[in-house]
Amino acid sequence: RPGAAQWVPAGVGLDGLRSAAPACRGCELWEPATQVVFSSGSPTARVALVGEQPGDQEDRAGEPFVGPAGRLLDEALDAAGVARTDAYVTNAVKHFRFTQSAPGKRRIHQSPDRVHVEACRPWLGAELAVVDPEVVVCLGATAAKALLGPSFRVTKSRGQLFPRLVADEGEAAAVQSGWLMATIHPSAVLRAGVGTDDAEAARAQAFDGLVADLRVVAAALA
Ligand code: URA
Ligand code: SF4
Repeated sequence: RPGAAQWVPAGVGLDGLRSAAPACRGCELWEPATQVVFSSGSPTARVALVGEQPGDQEDRAGEPFVGPAGRLLDEALDAAGVARTDAYVTNAVKHFRFTQSAPGKRRIHQSPDRVHVEACRPWLGAELAVVDPEVVVCLGATAAKALLGPSFRVTKSRGQLFPRLVADEGEAAAVQSGWLMATIHPSAVLRAGVGTDDAEAARAQAFDGLVADLRVVAAALA
């Protein structure tokens, strides 16, 4: 497995990265997907939101977080006072991974494996280096493990700000550039309590938890 590195051009801006991404063959996920879903939002954003991978609707639209999870995310950002227009939105893995029983049947989301996250990480590293936001928010365990390490536990350490360390030219050691924070994935709010008697309360509680974490981001930006 080669990983994405050889397809990620050096020394280019966001447009250069975006236009190179469709050619990536860094893992096998490109093949059954409709298209690469690179990112959306402002290249000068103060906050970057990193999801897991595009879903069914994102795969069709070519844009991250346009489906149900995206709508939930918009509501949570709004409630926390973080403007989505001030956010750069991307995913840890840039192609939709799914299973399908037969062509034309419903495509069922399948979480990326660690190999896919590792293969795709050069894209994430390159785009975050260009955007260089003040806060990077990992939405869910996949993004958190990609950026905070495989032993990171969202349940244990969500809502906490960690220094984001980046390599600095000419410096031997990494230097801090802003903050990293992890919270739950908006899809976890949509799934909370499903099939139980009190799904509505469970979902409201999960939503409030997401908003509380995002308020930490709003405060860091204030
Ligand atoms: N879930 C994600 O993690 N990312 C998207 O873009 C959509 C749903
Ligand atoms: Fe490349 Fe990432 Fe797509 Fe794999 S998922 S082909 S590494 S862009």
